[in-house]
Amino acid sequence: MKSLTALRGLGTDELLGLVDGAMRMRSSLDQAEPVEPVLLDRCVANLFFEPSTRTRLSFDLAAKRLGAEVITFNPGTSSTTKGESLRDTVLTVSAIGADIMVVRHNLEGVPTAAAEWTGKPVVNAGDGTNEHPTQALLDAVTLKRHFGEVTGLTIGIVGDVAHSRVANSLIHLLPSLGADLVVAGPEEWLPSTDLVEKSTSLETLLPDLDVVYLLRVQTERGGVITEDYVNDFRLDERRASMLRDRAIVMHPGPMNRGVEIDDAVADSPRAKMNEQVRNGVPTRMAVFAALEGSLQ
Ligand code: NCD
Repeated sequence: MKSLTALRGLGTDELLGLVDGAMRMRSSLDQAEPVEPVLLDRCVANLFFEPSTRTRLSFDLAAKRLGAEVITFNPGTSSTTKGESLRDTVLTVSAIGADIMVVRHNLEGVPTAAAEWTGKPVVNAGDGTNEHPTQALLDAVTLKRHFGEVTGLTIGIVGDVAHSRVANSLIHLLPSLGADLVVAGPEEWLPSTDLVEKSTSLETLLPDLDVVYLLRVQTERGGVITEDYVNDFRLDERRASMLRDRAIVMHPGPMNRGVEIDDAVADSPRAKMNEQVRNGVPTRMAVFAALEGSLQ
């Protein structure tokens, strides 16, 4: 694997290799086993043109745990504010000495373009509404660690699916791993693809789900929070009580409490958001190792 710009296009074996590699990486970290420093003498550049907390910090730590030096580009204090083009900025970071670039941008396709411009490996940390591959991979790790298997799970992705790059990556990954996937939300937020089952009623769906995967309304990408949406789709305590005992709740973060989820659910034992975040570092370590051709 030269770059990781999308999960679409990767086969089941390759996807499973990444998920299982990330599972092993997580076990090594948990047991404080030494991890092969496959990024020694490498420089990883984080180029986040959009805000980020968990994704940027976990890429940062993942690279450092593998021995890399990390440089971080901050658009607010960089020459982008002086009118430098995106291509020139990316080429500058490459010329400074970045060996691997982690790119987040609000335009679809920027990570792929960065790989073409520089000829260097790029990891997509979220491009517009397109994909967020490492988020989906860490979610698969979370599911596999919790349930033992992804195969046979019924998973509902709920909310602003149409504008969600996380949902796009999950829609490719989860069925490849054998899950039954349903997306639910207001009609106008459901994707046009026929490759996934769709529902406009959360409450009829809840009793069938093993996993409710909630999404933030992407207001920066055209999503509008309406009273109807909150009334019909917010996961509150009453709705959560319609779930099976074994069902869990996931969310890529950042959560908007009171919009897609209530405190009582977000802080309940069903909520696995902290596990998702924990799996972010080993998953990104596995992706870096795969780029270096040394994923165990
Ligand atoms: C997501 C993103 O940026 O796409 N966040 C994340 O990386 N965990 C989801 C979101 O912003 O809603």
